[in-house]
Amino acid sequence: MAKVKITETILRDAHQSLIATRMPTEEMLPVIEKLDNIGYNALEAWGGATFDASLRFLNEDPWERLRKIKAVAKKTPLQMLLRGQNLLGYKHYADDVVEYFVQKAVANGINIIRIFDALNDVRNIETAMKACKKEGGHAQACFSYTISPYHNIDVFVKDAKRMEEMGADSICIKDMAALLLPYEAYDLVKALKENVKVPIELHTHYTSGVGSMTYLKAIEAGVDIIDTAISPFAGGTSQPPTEPIVAALKGTEYDTGLDLEALSEIADYFKPYREQCIKDGLLDPKVLGVDANTLIYQVPGGMLSNLVSQLKQQNAMDKFEAVLREVPRVREDMGFPPLVTPSSQIVGSQAVLNVLAGERYKMVSKETKGLVKGEYGRTPAPISDEIKEKILKGEEQITCRPADLIKPELENIKSEIKEYIEQDEDVLSYALFPKQALDFFKVRQAAKYGIDGDAVNYKNATHPV
Ligand code: CO
Repeated sequence: MAKVKITETILRDAHQSLIATRMPTEEMLPVIEKLDNIGYNALEAWGGATFDASLRFLNEDPWERLRKIKAVAKKTPLQMLLRGQNLLGYKHYADDVVEYFVQKAVANGINIIRIFDALNDVRNIETAMKACKKEGGHAQACFSYTISPYHNIDVFVKDAKRMEEMGADSICIKDMAALLLPYEAYDLVKALKENVKVPIELHTHYTSGVGSMTYLKAIEAGVDIIDTAISPFAGGTSQPPTEPIVAALKGTEYDTGLDLEALSEIADYFKPYREQCIKDGLLDPKVLGVDANTLIYQVPGGMLSNLVSQLKQQNAMDKFEAVLREVPRVREDMGFPPLVTPSSQIVGSQAVLNVLAGERYKMVSKETKGLVKGEYGRTPAPISDEIKEKILKGEEQITCRPADLIKPELENIKSEIKEYIEQDEDVLSYALFPKQALDFFKVRQAAKYGIDGDAVNYKNATHPV
């Protein structure tokens, strides 16, 4: 009966979470065939921060990486993570760019696109979902799990139903901050299974130490798919490890059917690379520990360390407790956004400003204003008139989908970089990361035409390799 499926994250989230997305394609390729033979539900292999990191730090064409993986992984669906209307960048793009990006992602080998929006505003995932289905891809709609006085199971079920109506082929609970506790996971999954027909996938991180327990309870509640990472790159800020889950479920009604010995060959492959990463300082043992503060403050670990460093810079560590008390108040004022990029930074920085200024919203960051104004989309709960008045000072709130205000931009982008285009996809790399893409194009061109690359050598590029 209810066999549990596993999506392996080693090629994307695992190394994004542990070694700042620095795993190069050449480190992946020798093991792809083995990964492809395991029988995973999917290999998460692209999207998230990998696109940016390939161009910025690895001097790699992200599209080429995808094609190389796809050329070997012929059986297992390849999955990517997409930030809705933000694609893989940090702003809203016009619909024509979103549609073209999705078309090219599928054409180059992506089968499943996991699409989310930082505010859980479903309007921001709609264009990408439609495009994915049009290209014949599996559109997985995703909501960010969060804890607040506004959020409860009914809210998440409502979101999920809306996503199913929009045509989602499956739904993912994204617990990026590792806040989801085992028994809450049980109730949430149970409610989702009772209310939506499409498969439910759970994505968590091991940061707070409860990840594997959370998976086990979610499995008992009927979750269809869970995300894990092969053990050498599991735990800490990455996913719970694959092998213990497979072992724990063996012989039960939830048996994953995956072969532990085959998995151990994959683990063996990554062990020397892990050692190398530790030696190079790329893998900091700190990220491998359990951060129990998350369980106390219910804010992501990364957000707490950001607050500490902001306060240290201001010589104001004595205000730490006050800031921690201010965070939930600011979050309430902002309509309870999930604490994920960029809202976690916006809420955190505004809480610091409020405490240091000694008066709430005496100083308001540009980003806070943008969030209240509706530039990121609709916040989960409405923002009070009092806060709107205080922060917008009479300016109108945007109530439409933010991308409705953006004119088509693809043709302009194409004409800007005509001379560097070697493949259609270059236009998209440039649309998302103009500076990094251009640096990359110049190096590529120099290498191709045998120009002594000194003038455009990567060592001289603006960004570290
Ligand atoms: Co994740």
